[in-house]
Amino acid sequence: MCGVVGYVGKKDCATVLIEALSKLEYRGYDSAGIAVFENGTIRVEKSKGRLANLIEKMKIDGKPDGHCGIGHTRWATHGEPSDINSHPHGNKRVTIVHNGIIENYKQIKDFLISKGYEFESETDTETVAKLLDYYYVDDPIETITKVIAEIQGSYALGIMFKDFTDTIFAVRKDSPLIVGVGKNENFIASDVPAIIKYTRDYYLLEPDEIAVVKKDEIIVYDIHKNVIEKELQTATWDIDAAEKGGYEHFMLKEIHEQPTSVKTTLTPRISNGMPDFSADGVDFDKLATYRKIFVVACGTAMHAGLVAKYIIEKIARVPVIVDIASEFRYRDPLITKEDLLIVISQSGETADTLAVVRLAKQVGAATMAIVNVKGSSIAREADMVIYTHAGPEISVASTKAYMVQISVMYLLAFEIAYSNGTITKEQCKQYTAELQNIPSGIEAAIELKKECQFVASKLMNTESLLYIGRGLDYALSMEGSLKLKEISYIHSESYAAGELKHGTISLVTDQMPVIAIATQTALVEKTISNIKEVKARGAMVILICGQSIDVGDDVADYIIKLPLVDDLMMPMIAAVPMQLIAYYTAVLKGCDVDKPRNLAKSVTVE
Ligand code: M6R
Repeated sequence: MCGVVGYVGKKDCATVLIEALSKLEYRGYDSAGIAVFENGTIRVEKSKGRLANLIEKMKIDGKPDGHCGIGHTRWATHGEPSDINSHPHGNKRVTIVHNGIIENYKQIKDFLISKGYEFESETDTETVAKLLDYYYVDDPIETITKVIAEIQGSYALGIMFKDFTDTIFAVRKDSPLIVGVGKNENFIASDVPAIIKYTRDYYLLEPDEIAVVKKDEIIVYDIHKNVIEKELQTATWDIDAAEKGGYEHFMLKEIHEQPTSVKTTLTPRISNGMPDFSADGVDFDKLATYRKIFVVACGTAMHAGLVAKYIIEKIARVPVIVDIASEFRYRDPLITKEDLLIVISQSGETADTLAVVRLAKQVGAATMAIVNVKGSSIAREADMVIYTHAGPEISVASTKAYMVQISVMYLLAFEIAYSNGTITKEQCKQYTAELQNIPSGIEAAIELKKECQFVASKLMNTESLLYIGRGLDYALSMEGSLKLKEISYIHSESYAAGELKHGTISLVTDQMPVIAIATQTALVEKTISNIKEVKARGAMVILICGQSIDVGDDVADYIIKLPLVDDLMMPMIAAVPMQLIAYYTAVLKGCDVDKPRNLAKSVTVE
């Protein structure tokens, strides 16, 4: 949540900052702002709403003219979206941008008010800006160390001090921040896409390391003011990955990228036809020894965990408990040092998921993270990391990240099952081979676009609908429902098909369409019975089912038949039409598909 950028170099700073912010708008779009040193003083331009509003405003005010500055795109936490609450905050001596939440801001604010400070915004950030001002005499590092010793919570801060017109200062804790390394120019940013146009090289900042960033020099200090040697990181993907590449939206592009993302994620982890996570440093002899497996995550990543539960329990016969991170962390969970915690996260920065890793480590449980963003906080704190290789996912609605998360969980399930002795080597090879064929199945499922557009045209005017399924199809229906509601704003719920009769069916009328998923041969008949029950009550039914399943044409109003793959792997195929239905419904409704209201891509606050 919130995107932070900074630039020092020879280019026009405002132009670079705006360009960089445009790549971080997925982190929040309640306001945007920049601060640039112009003729030795800090000039701030900011505006409520999207970055486009700021650009329009600067057409009237004129762009700040300079070569050193910071910028911000906001997802509002403290204080409504407004010009006043927009970042940067501060005064002519110290100006900052911030991503995170300062938990003790009220005490700091009261203290500063007692010292004569006045506040104009409702933000927690302004208190940090004023506290920096309070301590600042002439030494920025000294000032920053004093302030971070007092503030509690999460922060990624970009800071400008009036007497250092060629320097930006940066520090972080529990919110991501990288320092981009260019030629005669350097950067700070919340995420790589912001800087990839200029450089692939960057440093990861550890908590409370302070970066002093000039045009041709970057020095990083620890909290005791010792200089730290940093290891240079290099982004492996190029600028095209962060561009729409001819697609109307990132979401559509990312749906199309799924076959490649899955291949890229799986290929390095299969050798001689068997799962092989040795390069990830995972000890698989140990895997068979855990008492229970907990899979914890948020949103779509949690839905990937639900698919994993079905697969692991079915073939490896190990109990898997799936939970939402924000619930798990506060319910005194029964996790012990005998257990394995697997967290799943695209961003690797989700605050609740990160907290769960810390909690599990405290009780001595083994922790494994399935993460997409290299060097992210969760990746750094977990004992074992398996990186998914989806490349940057820009659209707020997760598609390819979900797909690669599931694909890794399948391979893990095969490995655990083989280690446990619940499947033979031959079976393991057979499952693995089937998984390797899934990318072509996904490609074929993407070809169902026309059918999905048609279904979307039938759904676009509905107010509310239900997704139903059984077993793996139920896990999948949760994801289908989330995807539709988050981008099209149509209310939808997912239900285990067999559960409808226990209350929810009373909602069913001819105004309540039902999307039924029936990919599991053993359960099809049961789901068909449930479809008949809702049809009898007037519901328009859209059925998504396997090609080989003979359901009869009149069982549903519209039937989408999926390419043929093994039942066990069907979620990876069936997810595609659900993504496409959500996408086209949102497009037909004129919604902002990639930036749905109130949402941000990376949820770094709890
Ligand atoms: O970065 P994470 O995978 O940890 O994010 C978790 C959720 O916020 C995320 O999956 C969210 O539900 C999706 N963007 C929804 O499409």
